[in-house]
Amino acid sequence: MLATPGLTALSDRDEARRALLDDALRGVELVAGLGGSIVDVGSGGGTPGIPLAASLPEREVTLLEAERRKAEFLERWTADLPNVRVVWGRAEEQPVEAWGVAVAKALAHPPTAAEWCLPLVREGGAVVLWVGPSVEPQRVAAVAERVGGEVAESPPGFLVLRKTGPTPEGFPRRPGMAKKRPLA
Ligand SMILES: C[S@@+](CC[C@H](N)C(=O)[O-])C[C@H]1O[C@@H](n2cnc3c(N)ncnc32)[C@H](O)[C@@H]1O
Repeated sequence: MLATPGLTALSDRDEARRALLDDALRGVELVAGLGGSIVDVGSGGGTPGIPLAASLPEREVTLLEAERRKAEFLERWTADLPNVRVVWGRAEEQPVEAWGVAVAKALAHPPTAAEWCLPLVREGGAVVLWVGPSVEPQRVAAVAERVGGEVAESPPGFLVLRKTGPTPEGFPRRPGMAKKRPLA
């Protein structure tokens, strides 16, 4: 995943493996237990989407990436993975409620990531955020409530959101708004 300069700031091989592959694989069991097609929002160099797709070959995986250069890289890298498709675009501009599970690692602050990801999944679906120790679950919960979801029981290192209702009118907000005017 390191063949295109600038795709990741990681230069040490072991550190890259830990951050890009091992960290992604931590989520396999969790995502396997949540049904439906998967979208990796802000896939960047392909994590967690590519390791998840390789581990769960029966699941359709979309790698969604806003930067064209990265999306083109992902196209080249996933040509041999039949269950993967790459979409170049922003989360806020995708069809709503088109996936069962949205996953995101290092996409944005968790409240922003929650606002971007929840509209993408159908009612009954889930969002899985890879989070660090500084996450503020109550802020994410406040956002989730506005966007048709709630925080569910989550294993350490993750925040799982359930989509409990339809995406409310007015969401997704236009590109950039979730960062510029966070809901919580
Ligand atoms: C810090 S990188 C993380 C990449 C990868 N998930 C990882 O863990 O290494 C965040 C990525 O999200 C993409 N991104 C940011 N905002 C986005 C949006 N609204 N929709 C889709 N992709 C977005 C960026 O272009 C960038 O590639």
